[in-house]
Formats: sequence, C-alpha cells, structure tokens
Amino acid sequence: MEQKILELRQRAADAIKTAANNLKDLDNIRVKFLGKKGEITSLLRGMSQLSAEDRPRIGKIVNEARAQIEMLIAEKNESLKAKELSDKLASEKIDVTLPGRQIHSGHLHPLTLTLNRVKEIFLQMGYTIEEGPEVETDYYNFEALNLPKDHPARDMQDSFYITDDILLRTQTSPVQARTMERHEPNTPIRMIAPGRVYRRDDYDASHSPMFTQVEGLVIDKGIRFSDLKGTLEWLLKQLFGEKARARLRPSFFPFTEPSTEVDVSCVMCHGQGCKVCKGTGWLEILGAGMVHPDVLTMSGYDPKVVSGFAFGLGIERIAMLSYGIDDLRLFYDNDIRFLQQF
Ligand code: FA5
Ligand code: MG
Repeated sequence: MEQKILELRQRAADAIKTAANNLKDLDNIRVKFLGKKGEITSLLRGMSQLSAEDRPRIGKIVNEARAQIEMLIAEKNESLKAKELSDKLASEKIDVTLPGRQIHSGHLHPLTLTLNRVKEIFLQMGYTIEEGPEVETDYYNFEALNLPKDHPARDMQDSFYITDDILLRTQTSPVQARTMERHEPNTPIRMIAPGRVYRRDDYDASHSPMFTQVEGLVIDKGIRFSDLKGTLEWLLKQLFGEKARARLRPSFFPFTEPSTEVDVSCVMCHGQGCKVCKGTGWLEILGAGMVHPDVLTMSGYDPKVVSGFAFGLGIERIAMLSYGIDDLRLFYDNDIRFLQQF
C-alpha cells in the first residue's frame, strides 16, 4: 500500500513536470489524480478496508501525497501562467524604439516669399492689390498701352499667341488700363498688380519664358518723376538694405514718357561682373516711367487734370538678389534640396 502511494505520487509529479505543457493539460492531470474519480480519491475510499492500526499511518501518507501533488500543480499553474503571459507579450510586441514616420510639412516657395515681401511693402504705403487675366486680349496687352498692331516695340516682347487677338500676357501692364476703366475718370489710383507673364524668351541664368511681375500704378493730381524715384528707392532699401546701390538708366516704353530701367548692384559679384549680371556688375530688375498722356486718355483719364507713374518689376530677379541665387532656373527645377533651404 505504501509502495503504491509513493509510486502514484511519483507518476503525478512526472506528469506535472513533463506532460503539462499548458493550463488545459495541467487541469486534466489534476482531474486524473485529485478529481472526484481520481486516483487519490479512490485510494482514500479504499481506506475503509484497512485495519484500524494501519489506517492513521496510511491516511497520513495519502494526505501528504495529495498535499504535495496539489502544491506541484499550484506551482506549475503559476509558471504556465507566467509563460503564457510572456508568450502573449512577445507575440504582440510593439517596438516602441522604431523611429516614427516623419511627417513632411511644406512651406512657401522662395518666389512666393519674395512676392509676399513686395506686397507687404506696398500695402504699408496704402496701395491696393489688383488682378488681371493671364490670357489677355491684344487690346489690353498692347494697344491700350500705346502699342498699335505694327509698332516695332512689340518685338521687345516676343509673345505666345492663342488667336490673332488673344495671347498670354507678356507683362502685367494691361492691368493698368483695366484698373483705370473700373474707376470714374480721374479717380486717384495707387495699386500694384502681381502675376505671371509669358514671353518667348530664352531659358537661361536670368531669363525664363514664364516669370512673375509686379505692376505698379499711381495716378493723382501733381504726381511727378521725383515721386516715382522716391518710391523705388524706398522699395529697394526695404528689399536689399541701405548698402544696395540703384542705377536709373534712360529707356523706352511706349506707355511711359520719360521711361527708365532700374538696375541694382549685383549681389553675387558686388559689381565685379559674373554670369548672373552678364559681366556688367548690375542686374536689371524693373522698368518704369511717367504714364504716357495717350494711355491716360485711352482709359478715360484726362492728362490735363491728373498725371501718374508706373513700374513693372521682375520677382525672380529680386528673389535672386535677396537670397544670393546665381541661376533663375533653380526656382523652377523643383529640386527638393534647393527648395528645402527656404
Ligand atoms: C516691362 O515688362 C514693362 N511692362 C515694365 C514697365 C511697367 C515699364 C510700367 C514702364 C511702366 P521689361 O520687359 O523690361 O518691362 O520687364 C520688366 C522686368 O521683368 C525686367 O526688369 C526683369 O526684372 C523682368 N524680366 C523681363 N524678362 C524676363 C525673363 N524672361 N525672365 C525673368 N525676368 C524677366
Ligand atoms: Mg527690360
């Protein structure tokens, strides 16, 4: 009897140790030994057949065996639970040390930044911002600016025509006539008109067939050339600082008289001469002049009552000077290494 109990205890211990690979197996083992119909239970039942003197001794051994099996089961239960948890954690593991996916936030293009600066400078001087279409009629792009059909000055702005009468605007100057027409004759105007313009120009370090201009137009009683000069000098000081030098050259535009083109000292070579300024030390950034009396008349204004000045500046050139960029094409190449620097 004693031998049988010891052997049973050993089988139970072995089963718990080797056969119980999960909680379910362990429970089966528990039922097999300790359950209502289990081996220990039937041993206890068989006790009644023992003699009165054997009963307490054997009973003690059976109880000890049962206690031991219960303890082994409890221990195994703990370790299986712990293993299950760690398996679960391992299989559901999230590696929080992985770097996150970077969210790229965009930003404004250098030409937009430059345009915004120019707008800001004129808004502070009380200018309005006007708009005109990029697909323009021959009338506004040329004729209303004193350039009749066969005028030789049209050659200065080689154009993209859509029909004989419609073209991609070559300048923002058509917004001058459009704005005057929207006002009662002789109403004072102080406006800028930013936007894209198109020309059959080369694509080189300082030219693009599509570029950005800002037109300016000021009309009132008694506007003089000195007002134009003062305004442009203020603009250039705001943009390039006190050190920048400006040069006004006499020029010709059919819609202004007198006319001037304004150059700024080249920031790339500081006047030495380089590929950006084509060796001259200066970079042309705008054309300007006093509004031609015929242009005022065509748009319903009376040159005997009011006078005005106008200018048209190139945003690409200003951005190149501001940021020290030696090739205009960089603005349009969409090279992320370039654009990320702004
Ligand atoms: C004009 O377009 C005149 N409408 C300017 C004007 C307005 C004069 C009002 C008088 C009164 P111009 O063709 O020079 O002028 O061009 C003006 C500016 O645009 C130039 O100074 C230059 O900065 C810029 N520009 C001209 N062509 C290009 C080009 N292909 N690529 C980049 N910028 C250009
Ligand atoms: Mg020019």
